[in-house]
Amino acid sequence: MNRPRAEDLLAWYDANARDMPWRVGPSARRDGVRPDPYRVWLSEVMLQQTTVAAVTDYFHRFTTRWPTVADLAAAEDADVMGEWAGLGYYARARNLLKCARAVVGDHGGVFPTTREGLLGLPGIGPYTAAAISAIAYDLPETVVDGNVERVMARLHDLHVPLPTSKPKLTEMAARLTPDARPGDYAQAVMDLGATICTPKSPACGICPWRDPCVARTKGTAPELPKKLPK
Ligand code: ADE
Repeated sequence: MNRPRAEDLLAWYDANARDMPWRVGPSARRDGVRPDPYRVWLSEVMLQQTTVAAVTDYFHRFTTRWPTVADLAAAEDADVMGEWAGLGYYARARNLLKCARAVVGDHGGVFPTTREGLLGLPGIGPYTAAAISAIAYDLPETVVDGNVERVMARLHDLHVPLPTSKPKLTEMAARLTPDARPGDYAQAVMDLGATICTPKSPACGICPWRDPCVARTKGTAPELPKKLPK
């Protein structure tokens, strides 16, 4: 069985990356431009439990009104809660303000680059810390969300159900993370899961990882990942 190659996924991403307002376009990406950590953080917090389509307008309104983390830190609580209205999970908005104020008060207005530094901020857990490190700072951190779990379970035809399989899926994802372009790689796996390796009717025929995918060979992709009843 040949191993899934990060280069094949990155080539697919270069041609098919979804356009998102917090991302950098292909030509700037080729020039080594990275997205702003503030915008990456804000988008990742908004995307927890909310779809990309629903987040986009909120993201534009927030970044127009508060273009930097210092602007957000200086905002009135009620204004931020008002802009958040409709996104739900209001603890996220309260932590958003706490985190912006900690970045300004304790880190000179610059998001920390280390995992430990990021994990010390309010509302930032392992997923968000990895996403900021990888996407904004291009550090070789592995980002694991539901999309990534599905892609890994299928590539390796892992039938152990979630959540038992989580550590194994995380290890599989970490092993595939390349030293070159880990930030693009992290977003590429998420895009693959969201657009091709979808929960139902995956488009295996156009998948950049169709050859090394064990579940595709066995026809088990649509039934993976297995999940224990909640
Ligand atoms: N879902 C959450 N964050 C994402 C990102 N940066 N790219 C694609 N899908 C995502």
